Amino acid sequence: MRRGSVKHILATLVLLLPAGALADHELENRDLRNGRALYAVHCASCHGAKLEGQPNWRRPGKDGIRPAPPHDETGHTWHHDNQYLFDYTKLGGKALFEARGLPEIASGMPAPAEELTDDGIWDILAYIRSIWPDRIRRIQATTNPRHKR
Ligand code: HEC
Repeated sequence: MRRGSVKHILATLVLLLPAGALADHELENRDLRNGRALYAVHCASCHGAKLEGQPNWRRPGKDGIRPAPPHDETGHTWHHDNQYLFDYTKLGGKALFEARGLPEIASGMPAPAEELTDDGIWDILAYIRSIWPDRIRRIQATTNPRHKR
């Protein structure tokens, strides 16, 4: 067989791997204890010590600002891909929506304290994921675009 066709077959095999097989590497091998500790300091006051969110989180306030949703399986955090969750956390809601051309959307989600590093954010997100049942983790993994590496 010519080398070119071997390469072609390999490339095709990679494309045929189930979604999720390659898609989750940002959250692999993370420090879950650190994520849990950072969550308690930076996120729990709004999203709940048990990731349960704020009461009546589905109902926006009079100012149009939504309460903090849960991060457990009853919320919609797991509907989003890893990078979106990272950007949301890193930028805060207002800057994220502005960056996406939606400045009119109000948000109660602040940008985090400066001391929270990118690695810290990934650890928090990995901790949040570690709370989800397997089924939810598998579904969330399919929202991630396939990675090249
Ligand atoms: C001051 C309260 C507050 C704090 C602290 C806070 N959040 Fe939020 N967060 C919110 C609110 C309110 C929303 C609802 C959406 C909006 O208004 O933008 C939200 C939404 C989110 C979302 C989007 C969820 C979805 O399904 O759309 C993510 C992800 C998120 N927060 C992560 C975090 C993480 C991680 C931390 C800690 C580093 C954190 N938040 C700290 C208030 C907060």
